[in-house]
Amino acid sequence: MFSHIDKQLDELTKQLPEGGEGYLTADQAEFLWAFIRLTRPKIVAETGFNAGHSACVIMRAMETYGGGVLLSYDIGQHDVMQKGAEIVKSRYENFHLVQGDTKQTLATSLALTLSSNNDATLDLAIVDGGHDVETARHDLMVLESVLKPGGYLWLDDFENANCIAVGVNLVGREFAASRKHCLRFRTSDNRGMMIYQKGF
Ligand SMILES: C[S@@+](CC[C@H](N)C(=O)[O-])C[C@H]1O[C@@H](n2cnc3c(N)ncnc32)[C@H](O)[C@@H]1O
Repeated sequence: MFSHIDKQLDELTKQLPEGGEGYLTADQAEFLWAFIRLTRPKIVAETGFNAGHSACVIMRAMETYGGGVLLSYDIGQHDVMQKGAEIVKSRYENFHLVQGDTKQTLATSLALTLSSNNDATLDLAIVDGGHDVETARHDLMVLESVLKPGGYLWLDDFENANCIAVGVNLVGREFAASRKHCLRFRTSDNRGMMIYQKGF
């Protein structure tokens, strides 16, 4: 499915279990791959691991320029999470999965990681966990608060034309209304996301 992007990525993602919730389309994967390769983050956080498709794109894209760290968060409501995490972890030692509700885990875990090293900065954060208003708003606000100036915050599933996430749309509109530097993108298969750059 991802052979048009990278052979190793394709082989890796073929090992992941099927199912759970949501999926990463080939166009979305290509967009994420290109964005990572263009902006070259060293530390990335994502809420919503599911079976690990986006995590593989992120880890493999970072590997092409020397590697980086991914902190991934998931409540574990789908069986595929554990198996997927084992596969990603067996290839990438800098991949970390934090299991639990992000409303309880995200702030403390990020603070711990980012304060453990003076040079550590959160360069890119992706919100793709709970799509309800409370969780999406919480995740956006917490991630923005620790994002480095100039870093990017990606709200996945924002204004998807063929897979409508009402909570994400409401929170994204609210967020963009009080901030500059928010852009909406749509892949050619109609999957949407908002990307915000924190002021610098
Ligand atoms: C759309 S899926 C993520 C898709 C994933 N990024 C991928 O590439 O396949 C959303 C995930 O968020 C998780 N989730 C839902 N509510 C959550 C919460 N409150 N805290 C953490 N994870 C949550 C679900 O278990 C699910 O795996």
